[in-house]
Amino acid sequence: MKNIVLFASGSGSNVENIVRYFQDKNNSVIISVVLTNKSDAKVLDRCNNLNINGLYFNRNAFYATDCVRDILKNINPDLIILAGFLWKMPEKIIKDFPSKIINIHPALLPKYGGKGMYGNNVHKAIKANNEQETGITIHYVNENYDEGAIIFQAKTQINSSDSVEDIANKVHELEFEHFPKTIEKLLFEV
Ligand code: GAR
Repeated sequence: MKNIVLFASGSGSNVENIVRYFQDKNNSVIISVVLTNKSDAKVLDRCNNLNINGLYFNRNAFYATDCVRDILKNINPDLIILAGFLWKMPEKIIKDFPSKIINIHPALLPKYGGKGMYGNNVHKAIKANNEQETGITIHYVNENYDEGAIIFQAKTQINSSDSVEDIANKVHELEFEHFPKTIEKLLFEV
């Protein structure tokens, strides 16, 4: 039995997809808790509906004290997964869990990464630059935004008629398909 912790800041459609994926696999993976930095994030409603623990924390609990860090240390998860989480991970936590924190980014890193590049901001920039392809990157988390070692990437084509929303949908499709499988591989294929 493996256990994981998820972090999310918004809608949490990736969180829901990951939870359902492992529920369908006889719960070989326990989702110990979903942590969010937004008290009104939709991901908390999803946690309620899915019957899993959702917990809100504020800036103080994350950066000024060891509150979130201690929660993680107590759980001692096999993997910490950032699924649409927008705050920078404190260095202390990165040091506590070497090679155990992963993030999903909605573009083909190293392009369209860095501070401010998240969610629709990424898709808008890709549309503005008339890119012909985009994709997803799953990578380890280090001290710099979107710069950790890449674990997995997948691409999708963009048509000139695609809106920002169309691009976002194409990227979400890739995320739903590949994120749970990549997590499973990391957990079970040593
Ligand atoms: C996802 O597309 C994820 O790749 C992105 O936020 C979205 C969250 O969607 N993450 C980032 O932009 C991180 N820089 P969701 O809340 O519906 O899962």
